[in-house]
Amino acid sequence: MVFLSLSLVSADEDGFIGVNIGTDLSDMPHPTQVVALLKSQQIRHVRLYDADRGMLVALAGTGIKVAVTIPNEQLLGIGQSNSTAAHWVSQNIVAHYPATNITTICVGSEVFNNLPNVGPVLVTALKFIHGALVASNLDRQIKVSTPIASTVILDSFPPSQAFFNHSWNPVLVPLLKFLQSTGSSLMLNIYPYYDYMQSNGVIPLDYALFNPLPANKEAVDANTLLHYTNVFDAMVDAAYYAMASLNVTNVPVLVTESGWPSKGDSNEPDATLDNANTYNSNLIKHVLNQTGTPKHPGIPVSTYIYELYNEDTKNGPVSEKNWGLFDANGKPIYTLQLTGSGPAFANDTANQNHCTAKEGADSKMLQAALDWACGPGKVNCSALLQGQPCYEPDNVASHASFAFDSYYHMMGKGEGTCDFNGVAMLTTTDPSHGSCQFIGSDGMNGTFLNSTVADFNSTSSSSWRGRRDYATVGVLIKVLLGSLLL
Ligand SMILES: *[C@@H]1O[C@H](CO)[C@@H](O)[C@H](O)[C@H]1NC(C)=O
Ligand SMILES: *[C@@H]1O[C@H](CO)[C@@H](O)[C@H](O)[C@H]1NC(C)=O
Ligand SMILES: *[C@@H]1O[C@H](CO)[C@@H](O)[C@H](O)[C@H]1NC(C)=O
Ligand SMILES: *[C@@H]1O[C@H](CO)[C@@H](O)[C@H](O)[C@H]1NC(C)=O
Ligand SMILES: *[C@@H]1O[C@H](CO)[C@@H](O)[C@H](O)[C@H]1NC(C)=O
Ligand SMILES: *[C@@H]1O[C@H](CO)[C@@H](O)[C@H](O)[C@H]1NC(C)=O
Ligand SMILES: *[C@@H]1O[C@H](CO)[C@@H](O)[C@H](O)[C@H]1NC(C)=O
Ligand SMILES: *[C@@H]1O[C@H](CO)[C@@H](O)[C@H](O)[C@H]1NC(C)=O
Ligand SMILES: *[C@@H]1O[C@H](CO)[C@@H](O)[C@H](O)[C@H]1NC(C)=O
Ligand SMILES: *[C@@H]1O[C@H](CO)[C@@H](O)[C@H](O)[C@H]1NC(C)=O
Repeated sequence: MVFLSLSLVSADEDGFIGVNIGTDLSDMPHPTQVVALLKSQQIRHVRLYDADRGMLVALAGTGIKVAVTIPNEQLLGIGQSNSTAAHWVSQNIVAHYPATNITTICVGSEVFNNLPNVGPVLVTALKFIHGALVASNLDRQIKVSTPIASTVILDSFPPSQAFFNHSWNPVLVPLLKFLQSTGSSLMLNIYPYYDYMQSNGVIPLDYALFNPLPANKEAVDANTLLHYTNVFDAMVDAAYYAMASLNVTNVPVLVTESGWPSKGDSNEPDATLDNANTYNSNLIKHVLNQTGTPKHPGIPVSTYIYELYNEDTKNGPVSEKNWGLFDANGKPIYTLQLTGSGPAFANDTANQNHCTAKEGADSKMLQAALDWACGPGKVNCSALLQGQPCYEPDNVASHASFAFDSYYHMMGKGEGTCDFNGVAMLTTTDPSHGSCQFIGSDGMNGTFLNSTVADFNSTSSSSWRGRRDYATVGVLIKVLLGSLLL
């Protein structure tokens, strides 16, 4: 059988997960704190809702890939003036690239819904911005598109019958041509939470959350016989079919927003911690597994999660303020369940990178724990020897802190590994001082052992108390250098 494929959707790189950074917080963290959080969570892609200079400067040199946005209120000016567009690009892009790896410009945000009167100049704005990138020789590195709401796609189930709201065809047809000719993506904001909420019970919660469904509950597209196991895939395929109905088959979909709120009003009962955790964990695993969609299996659908922080100053129902993965202090709202999908995103202790002696802890108990850590615990305590960097200050709390921190990191920051019978605690503060660098500080990778290490709780016995030669123990241990940390 000769099969001539006209469907040429392809992706240049593996699917990635990024995060949107909204800034409607009463105590918005400083850009350097935002970037510290991104690094600690190994977040490699972000999308900003503007082109904030402070953020772009803080992101310089991090290798983090950045999508910037031209705010809707600037679109009319840019769509009407080529020189305004050129000025915007020189101020916000050229000034920062390549130190800051800007990969994408989002021209506006859900313009059809939020600012329909700008529709007529939208494609012109994209073209002017693209023209300015061409003039700066940056058009291959930086892509230009505009995020649309999934509500612009009508009759999205079955996906094969989906089409764009015809009212917008006069804009969509030239938009898709532009995306085609510039190798850009269709940017789509997908919210299964709202689809589920508005479906009056037609959409099962599990189908919205990517949870397994019994085979008889799976949604089947009667035209294609493709099986859909979640709303997200169905919506992405609906976008592919809607584009196909306008004869466009080679523009990939990039999901610029998707997420689930962790808290809501009494009439938003499904905005819960559990559901938000389930949705975002499953979404991340789904995207990183490069599964693709039923229509385009194996073509990854890169996605920016909505969003990094809870935005407490957002208007609207309680859920509006609770889409974040973190609070303003960088503390995770919930612990994503990402076992097996690589080192990315928050575990509850992720931002508490150090384990130290508890303030005011009994010094005999600290000594016992210290002796244990440097002995059976197999921590390399040579830095605590006289003349070594962590000898001063020569007191048990300070020495114990070094040993606890090393043990905690050696154990991969596992649960219960910063306890030591209650005399240890987790902290975000880096206890390094002078030339005494604690594991987990910037530039220090965790060192962990290729062996099962005993647990203090079960083995702490008087036989280790008073042992003073701890520094010599552990030197013979075969170690494995791991990049557990940044
Ligand atoms: C930016 O990221 C892209 C995509 O991964 C990469 O190919 C490129 O080398 C990076 N550019 C800079 C200046 O770091
Ligand atoms: C717009 O400006 C760019 C340079 O920024 C130039 O290359 C292009 O020809 C101009 N287009 C029009 C229609 O004037
Ligand atoms: C299609 O878009 C027009 C213009 O924004 C809007 O008035 C209309 O309600 C939309 N139709 C549907 C079915 O959403
Ligand atoms: C798509 O292609 C078909 C067949 O070539 C044609 O009849 C139709 O008018 C085209 N539609 C659009 C929106 O270009
Ligand atoms: C990942 O994809 C493979 C096939 O490509 C599939 O067998 C596996 O179940 C997927 N895992 C998840 C977590 O989706
Ligand atoms: C989070 O925990 C999982 C499973 O314990 C682990 O595989 C992953 O590397 C951890 N992520 C971070 C950022 O620590
Ligand atoms: C123990 O740490 C010291 C630095 O404090 C280092 O020189 C030595 O190589 C380490 N020993 C082992 C076995 O890793
Ligand atoms: C040690 O005991 C504490 C309670 O005293 C417990 O929370 C912790 O999980 C235990 N550590 C291990 C490794 O079992
Ligand atoms: C930490 O690990 C990274 C990547 O694995 C490596 O490039 C870096 O040199 C390591 N740093 C130290 C201090 O070992
Ligand atoms: C630990 O060491 C053994 C023997 O050297 C090796 O076979 C094993 O793969 C190692 N395990 C890990 C997790 O590196």
